[in-house]
Amino acid sequence: MPAHRSATTPTSDWWRQAVIYQIYPRSFADADGDGIGDLPGIRSRLDYLSRLGIDAIWLSPFYPSPLADGGYDITDHRDVDPRLGTLDDFDALVADAHQRGVRIIIDIVPNHTSDRHPWFLEAVAAGPGSPARERYIFRDGSGPDGREPPSDWRSHFGGPAWHRTADGQWYCHLFAREQPDLNWAHPEVRDYFEDTLRFWADRGVDGFRIDVAHSLAKDLSSPLRSQPNLDGMLPLDGSDPLYDRDEVHEIYRSWRRIFDEYDPPRMAVAETWHPTSSRTYLYARADELGQIFDFSLLKADWHPDQFRTVISRSLGEHAGVGGALTWVVSSHDVPRHATRYALPVGTDLDAWLRSDGTHFPLDEATAQRRARAATVMMLALPGSAYLYQGEELGLLEVADLPVDALQDPVYERTGHRLKGRDGCRVPLPWTVDGSSFGFGNNGAWLPQPDWFATYAASSQDGHPGSSLELYRRAITLRRKLADTDGFCWVDSGDAQVLRFARAEDWQCIVNFSAHTVPIPGRLILTSDPAGIPDRTGQSHTLRPETAAWFTPMN
Ligand code: GLC
Repeated sequence: MPAHRSATTPTSDWWRQAVIYQIYPRSFADADGDGIGDLPGIRSRLDYLSRLGIDAIWLSPFYPSPLADGGYDITDHRDVDPRLGTLDDFDALVADAHQRGVRIIIDIVPNHTSDRHPWFLEAVAAGPGSPARERYIFRDGSGPDGREPPSDWRSHFGGPAWHRTADGQWYCHLFAREQPDLNWAHPEVRDYFEDTLRFWADRGVDGFRIDVAHSLAKDLSSPLRSQPNLDGMLPLDGSDPLYDRDEVHEIYRSWRRIFDEYDPPRMAVAETWHPTSSRTYLYARADELGQIFDFSLLKADWHPDQFRTVISRSLGEHAGVGGALTWVVSSHDVPRHATRYALPVGTDLDAWLRSDGTHFPLDEATAQRRARAATVMMLALPGSAYLYQGEELGLLEVADLPVDALQDPVYERTGHRLKGRDGCRVPLPWTVDGSSFGFGNNGAWLPQPDWFATYAASSQDGHPGSSLELYRRAITLRRKLADTDGFCWVDSGDAQVLRFARAEDWQCIVNFSAHTVPIPGRLILTSDPAGIPDRTGQSHTLRPETAAWFTPMN
């Protein structure tokens, strides 16, 4: 059986069983009326966030950026983009969040800078062979006159991972061409990021999310090696020249020493976007980052076998390492999960988005039912849960954004083959009316659809059957129930029904079937909007595509 609950988690370990809410700052709340979300906007919504019951906010980049990749192209890693506020605004946000017991995690983007970063401008101006070029990955081309890229490396956003400068040399960019990759063998690069971590930790930041953490150490020996795993979709084994090389762990061990200079030690979570394997959890070792995003649940369709398999595998992979488990179903990089779950298993999401969502018309009721059930399940799993802004409202993907409104570089770079990630980044609806549904008072940088009114926070606040109230209740209850990693599957006798125990008095059941099943115990929480427990809590059944927490009957 799972372990019994122990005393409260020590402060330094708060992130092991936390609920962390991701904010994409440009799309959360706009305080100054320029159509772009900002730090004062986030600050003005802290009461909402604290009422949700979350432990921490993870802020996607708010640094100065020409926005070639939604803020992940940074010109100054130690400042705030003037459109989003100032360092004083940042300090005020941290202070106000801390006052409410909400911690702040920020995004560190160490693989690349913006091509407008002073280092890159200097490198381009200084020319081939200059020390300034050593901070990046410049190479001569191959073929006649060096006209071909130096290697076969591909950019995640489409096309070669090399761009040619006016003087004929090429530089490497694993993402947009405006995001030149840094050379992590260069001591100044290491010092710059170590100083950056200290800069923010000194300002009171509680933790860091490390962008594409598995890509920093590259094999740059000459001649450059070919990349066997071009789309990054095969499990990695340490032999790829670009990703998940053994040397990368040494960088994180040195970062851990910095995190541990603080009291409490700063936490960190690695983003490594490749198939989960036993190597994935190595980043979560105690002397490295402690936590890693496990995207396997996010990649699963709404299907009991898929959910069961990824949960079992992640629990197993994590067990050998001892870092904290994480679960995530939505983020700023993927179509919203309420939408994904309402599509048939195996749907090609890119093709569906390209059709503006017309290939398979979405059934909203199905989307809501399944998303609510998945949330109730995810929040019952041991470890930390990462939520993405707007999922608490049950928001769907905006699949039909007009192409002339798209901002994500993916659309252009793939020759319009992929529509990109804007559909999950549309500014949030706070109220049912107003020029941008309460996001700000002067429009929004991406167009919001009319149906956003139905999902507005104000229309859900205080309504017991709403998605927002379900999240509030689940997070609050979870805080009382979950403080160990105890977990075991319980045989439900039905392959369409998942059941697991977290503690003697806490089990979760998810009904994927088309029939109603009994809840074998006393109801604690249900995803069913109609399923408010009666006074005894005894007489409950679980309708199709709903989930519940309950205390089992002895
Ligand atoms: C990460 C971010 C993504 C960004 C990329 C390049 O995967 O989540 O949004 O485009 O890194 O920085």
